[in-house]
Amino acid sequence: MKKLKKKKVIVTGCAGFIGSNLVDRLLNKNFQVIGIDNLSTGQKKFIQKPLKNKNFKFIKMDLINSKKLNKLSSNVEMVFHFAANADVRFGYLQPKKDLRENTIVTSNVLEFMRKKKIKKIIFCSTGSIYGEAKNIPTAEDENFPIQTSLYGASKLAGESLIQAYCNAYNIQAWIFRFVSILGERYIHGHVFDFCNQLFKNNSKLRVLGNGFQKKSYLHVEDCINAIFTALKKSRGTINIFNLGTEEFITVRQSIKILCKKLNVKPKISYAGGRRGWIGDNPFIFLKIDKIKSLGWKPKYSIKKSLELTISYLSKNKWVFKKRK
Ligand SMILES: NC(=O)c1ccc[n+]([C@@H]2O[C@H](COP(=O)([O-])OP(=O)(O)OC[C@H]3O[C@@H](n4cnc5c(N)ncnc54)[C@H](O)[C@@H]3O)[C@@H](O)[C@H]2O)c1
Repeated sequence: MKKLKKKKVIVTGCAGFIGSNLVDRLLNKNFQVIGIDNLSTGQKKFIQKPLKNKNFKFIKMDLINSKKLNKLSSNVEMVFHFAANADVRFGYLQPKKDLRENTIVTSNVLEFMRKKKIKKIIFCSTGSIYGEAKNIPTAEDENFPIQTSLYGASKLAGESLIQAYCNAYNIQAWIFRFVSILGERYIHGHVFDFCNQLFKNNSKLRVLGNGFQKKSYLHVEDCINAIFTALKKSRGTINIFNLGTEEFITVRQSIKILCKKLNVKPKISYAGGRRGWIGDNPFIFLKIDKIKSLGWKPKYSIKKSLELTISYLSKNKWVFKKRK
């Protein structure tokens, strides 16, 4: 019997939190994967297993270097573009970073795809592009309000470039606007910061903002399931989906879950204010009817995702040393 040819794909940001989870899943599904990462926040440890797999090839590369990127071979079917600066909070301290890592790098990836005639891109965008939305839960067709973070602005610019490339060069795109993602290999965000503080000293916890910020979360496994569902069932030129759960939680509530799970009773101090930092959105909650209409629904509640993430961090304290 004739053997079916394996699908070959590129994953940028393959050593990051979500990218490395995706690589595992793609290899399980028998794809051939070329993973690219500059290891700025990504960890080689996250791709230890794929590195031993003959269907995985790792290329350490900074995607800002378009010359190097354009030398890559072209016989791939699609690019999962996950590389980015994913730390929303520090954007305003380094104003060019989000532009470089999220917008220019996306432009480089698109140019590479145009030159090599690769016709499918999967892009990680963010709920942050809605800024402080008027309508909550916020749907994909919400009017864009004013951008409130450099991260959101750089991702929205990335989305716009992708849409223009789709229109001009017959490329197909799946754009996912995530809430915050939790789960195994989670390495940034406020749950990470809280665990980091409490593992050093469990008698006190400093919280940015007043703790009443409302956040929504999704487990990384659910996130990847949703991406595969959309790829399978949504075949338009530009396919845009919010990904999240139908719940939200305040920072104070997540601290309660965290303290219970770690069995600690720290003295909590709040910095005050509705926002934790410049660009922090006091209420992120996305409407997910569109992705649900394709038959996907999240398996994990926010509470369960938080608990699993806290367990992972408790058992993998090495990640804190790598993320100083
Ligand atoms: N984690 C979340 O809650 C969340 C929410 C919304 C959107 N996203 C988006 O999902 C994607 C993955 O996020 P993550 O949480 O896994 O972040 P991450 O920091 O763990 O992964 C990003 C990866 O990209 C790599 N990278 C960064 N710049 C690069 C460059 N110039 N060249 C090559 N590699 C580079 C990093 O080393 C890292 O491995 C990002 O695009 C992020 O913006 C994440």
